[in-house]
Amino acid sequence: ASVHRYSFIIEEAPYTRLCSTKNILTVNGQFPGPSLHIRQGDTAIVHVHNKGNQNITIHWHGVKLPRNPWSDGPVYITQCPIMPGKSFIQNIQVTDEIGTLWWHAHSEWSRATVHGAFIVYPKRGENYPFPQPRAENTIILGEWWKSDIQAVLTQFQHSGGDPIVSDALLINGQPGDLYPCSEQDTFKLEAEYGKTYLLRMINAAMNNILFFSIAKHQITVVGSDGSYTKPFKSDYIAISPGQTIDFLLEANQAPDHYYMAAKVYNSALPVPFDHSTTTGIIEYSGNYTPSSPLSFPRLPLLNDTKASVNFTGGLRSLASKVDVPLNLDTKLFLTISVNLRPCETNNTCTGPAGHRFAASINNISFVQPQINILQAYYGGLRGVYEEQFPSFPPLKFNFTAQPFPFKLTIPSLGTKVKVLEYNSNVEIVLQATSLVWSPDHPMHLHGHSFYVVGSGIGNFDEKKDPLNYNLVDPPLRNTIAVPRNGWTTIRFKANNPGVWLMHCHLERHATWGMEMVFIVKNGKSPQEQLLPPPSDMPPC
Ligand code: C2O
Ligand code: CU
Repeated sequence: ASVHRYSFIIEEAPYTRLCSTKNILTVNGQFPGPSLHIRQGDTAIVHVHNKGNQNITIHWHGVKLPRNPWSDGPVYITQCPIMPGKSFIQNIQVTDEIGTLWWHAHSEWSRATVHGAFIVYPKRGENYPFPQPRAENTIILGEWWKSDIQAVLTQFQHSGGDPIVSDALLINGQPGDLYPCSEQDTFKLEAEYGKTYLLRMINAAMNNILFFSIAKHQITVVGSDGSYTKPFKSDYIAISPGQTIDFLLEANQAPDHYYMAAKVYNSALPVPFDHSTTTGIIEYSGNYTPSSPLSFPRLPLLNDTKASVNFTGGLRSLASKVDVPLNLDTKLFLTISVNLRPCETNNTCTGPAGHRFAASINNISFVQPQINILQAYYGGLRGVYEEQFPSFPPLKFNFTAQPFPFKLTIPSLGTKVKVLEYNSNVEIVLQATSLVWSPDHPMHLHGHSFYVVGSGIGNFDEKKDPLNYNLVDPPLRNTIAVPRNGWTTIRFKANNPGVWLMHCHLERHATWGMEMVFIVKNGKSPQEQLLPPPSDMPPC
C-alpha cells in the first residue's frame, strides 16, 4: 500500500456561468475540484490550507477512516473549522472501499463548489470484476446559483422558508446547451464505436435528487457508493445527493452525437421549482455529420416515484452472499420529518402559518454545538451534548397520512447522541413522515457503510415487513433515499470507534436539523480504540 500526498489550497476564484460571473470557493482554483486517484489499501495525506475568506472543513464522503474520525470533517461534530489563514493535515486511509467516492466541504453550504471525486482503484495486480473499459470518466452532477452561496444560505436561514431555487444543474461544472449562454459550457465525452467506457457518477447537487439518462443507450450499473454491484441494466439512473453510481456505457449505436441529460426528481413537490435540465454530449469519433437535432434521452417524469424505487431497489451486492448482521444487538426506529418551528423575532418566517421550517429525527431537531462533539467525548467534557437520544415513539400516529394536528409538527431542539457498543450489530428502520410535505430523504452515515435490507411505502409494519428483508445480497451503501412516504431498513456493524454523523444529504433538510450523531464506544484491545487526535486539530 502506498501513501499519496495532496495539497488542497482553499481559495476564491472567479467563474462565469449563465453569462454571469462570481467568485466561488475552490480547491486549487478548480471547479469541480481535483480528483484523487488511489488504490484500495492506500492512504492519502491531504494538506488543507485555507487561503479563502471563510471557515471551512473537508469531508471524505464514504471513506470509513477506521478509528480516525479526527479526519472526517463535519464541522462541530469531529472538528472545529479551519479558519482563514490556517491549515490542517487530514489522513485518509482507504480500507475495503472500491470504486467511486468523493470529498466535499462540510461546513455551511460551501460544498456547492468545494467538491471532487475520490477514486479507489483495485489493488495492484487486481482487476475489475467486469471487462477492462476502453477509458474512464467522472461525471459530477452539481447545482449552480448566480448569487453567492453564502448569501443563499443567509437568506434561507433568515427567511425560515425554502431556499431560493438554483439557476442551473451542472454536469462537471457545466450547465449544458439548454440553458441561456451555455453552449460553450457543455460537457463532451468522446466515444469510439464498439468500445466500453466506465463512467463514475457523483451527485454533488445541494438539494436535488436527479434522474440521468443517455439517448439511445442502455447503461450497466457495476458499483455504487464505493462497492461493487451485480451488473444491472437500465435506461436511466436515479441518484441522490451523496450517492455515487459506477456504470458501463457501451458505444454500440450508429456513430453520431447523443445527448446525456439530468433533471430533478422530486415526487410532486407542491411549490414551483426549477424544472431545467442539464445536458452533455457523447461524440462518437469518426467522419460523419451529426444529426440535427441530436436525439434526446427519455427521462422519467419528475414525480415518477416508481422509476426511482425500481432503480434503487434493483441494486444488489456483487457477491452471491454477503455478511449482513443477523444477530441484532441494537434496533432503532427513527422517524425523519420535516417540521415547523415557531418564528423567532427578527426573522421573516415565510413558512406555513407564519412558522419556519425545521427537520428532525425522532422529533429532535439537531443543534450544532460550539465545541466539536468528538473533542468533548475524547476529553470527557460535559455540557456539549446529551446522551439520551429518545427512542420512538414520543407520539404514535399514522406517519404517512395527512393532515396532522398542528402541535405534532413542532419538534424539540437538542444536541443528542446515540451511544453504540463496539462491534454491536445495529438495525435502523428509517420512517419518513408526512408531517410537512418533503421529497425523499437521502440519509447518509459517516464512518460505516450499511446494507439496505428493505424498503417500502407507507408505515413500516414490524410484523410483516421484516419477512421480506434481503439478507442474502443487499447493496452496501453509505447514502440511501428513504421514500418520502415510506421507510427503509439498514444494517451495519458498529465496528468503527468514534463520533459519526448521520444526516439527510439534502442540504436544506440538514440545515433544518435532520441530523444525529452516533458515538461508537471503544473495544477492549488497543487496536479497537479511537486514535488520539493529531497535534494540528483546528482549535475551537
Ligand atoms: Cu457527504 Cu455528511 O456528507
Ligand atoms: Cu431530507
